[in-house]
Amino acid sequence: MPVTVVVGAQWGDEGKAKVIDLLAEQHSIVARYQGGHNAGHTVVVGDERYALQLIPSGVLYPHVTPVIGNGVVVDLPTLFKEMDSLESRGVSCAALKVSRLAHLILPWHQAHDALAEAARGDQPIGTTLKGIGPAYADKARRLGIRAGEVADLDTFAVTVRARATAEKALIDQAVTAAAATGSPVIDLPDLDIELIVEQWCEYGRRLQPHLADTVGMLHDAREAGADILLEGAQATFLDLDHGTYPYVTSSSPTAGGASAGSGLGPRHLDRIIGITKAYTTRVGAGPFPTELLDALGDKLIDVGHEYGTVTGRRRRAGWLDAYMLRHAVRLNSLTEFALTKLDVLDGFDEVRICTGYRINGQAISHYPDTATELAMVEPEYVTLPGWRSDLTAIRDRAELPSAAAEFLRVVEHTVGIPIDIVGVGAARDAYLKWSRT
Ligand code: GDP
Ligand code: IMO
Ligand code: MG
Repeated sequence: MPVTVVVGAQWGDEGKAKVIDLLAEQHSIVARYQGGHNAGHTVVVGDERYALQLIPSGVLYPHVTPVIGNGVVVDLPTLFKEMDSLESRGVSCAALKVSRLAHLILPWHQAHDALAEAARGDQPIGTTLKGIGPAYADKARRLGIRAGEVADLDTFAVTVRARATAEKALIDQAVTAAAATGSPVIDLPDLDIELIVEQWCEYGRRLQPHLADTVGMLHDAREAGADILLEGAQATFLDLDHGTYPYVTSSSPTAGGASAGSGLGPRHLDRIIGITKAYTTRVGAGPFPTELLDALGDKLIDVGHEYGTVTGRRRRAGWLDAYMLRHAVRLNSLTEFALTKLDVLDGFDEVRICTGYRINGQAISHYPDTATELAMVEPEYVTLPGWRSDLTAIRDRAELPSAAAEFLRVVEHTVGIPIDIVGVGAARDAYLKWSRT
């Protein structure tokens, strides 16, 4: 019966999918609740590596029903490409359910994403250019098209044609205005209205058998005693409200978003697991107090293979920020952490953990609530000796070198909640249970 939420506690790519894959074995439903194909969730099973963008990471287990919840924005070409790719590798997607209330991403959303980034000149957000922000904007403006609308393809075609016509006019206008101001020319694919209508009706037909009242389904399953896992994409500090605005995504990855984006009420969320790496990474622009711009940062990126799953971009890297994690505990009501990639620190002589911030030499009492303030902080560190040994084969907490155990204890002490699982490699079985419960 318990509902468990998995939330990124940093700026994304914490290894959420690996933890979800681990937990999914004991769950019958895994549901995504926000974001879209901006996510890149990697699961490694034996020699196989799966990079998922939209389909919940639980799909790899035949007993799991994967659900795309109402809070997700769905790019149908990506969804079907992903389904075809999984099916060709022997992973069935037949049971996939897509909420009728989820909003669709359409080609004009990607065009608007590119225009908005270009309009920011030398201060872009560094979005994935997948049209996520514009799709959520249309949802908020009550202009969005929902997945359930494909049930009646004739009406769907009329709606898509009307929206495409209006958006094409807006985009043409914006491109002409940008050119008149001498801004660099943006290479946007032409919006062929009739082709879009035709293609999306085709996609709509394929989507029909997967449509469901996922809210009702999740409640029924919960009441019948099923274990449900809610899979977050992005992360706490990319949250539209609580992240480093404007350098954020356009959804609510925090635990409150899990409730809104799945339809399960807040009191139904029993366990909320924050995922953190043993260090910090960020892809895209925005403040990053513990960022390492030197050889140590390069080492974290090289050893941790810190390149985006979706865009291939090099991630930025730095020491673990446990002060930031403490704020994530509050924002999400976290019950525990799973800490991944401890093995990436194996070759470091010293490891550091940020335990607080100062601004102009003064300790601060609350986590900075603006990107401007966060950009001004000086992190305070605890420096610990490294363990200089290979953790990747360790499966028992008793076998951890004492320096690695001390690292985990300092993190737990700073964040104030337990670390349950510790990741020591990308493979499915490369983890150990740190908490004694
Ligand atoms: P997500 O977006 O939070 O699901 O994370 P990503 O999949 O984008 O990035 C995490 C990367 O780290 C993936 O390549 C995982 O295979 C890998 N990974 C996850 N846990 C561990 C771990 O404990 N150790 C190591 N070395 N790699 C890990
Ligand atoms: P997962 O689920 C890391 C970042 C982008 C950009 C900002 C806004 O794999 O952890 P968007 O396209 O969402 O409007 O971009 O958010 N971003 C991510 N960074 N992991 C992700 O997903 C991300 N999804 C979006 O790089 O800075
Ligand atoms: Mg990722």
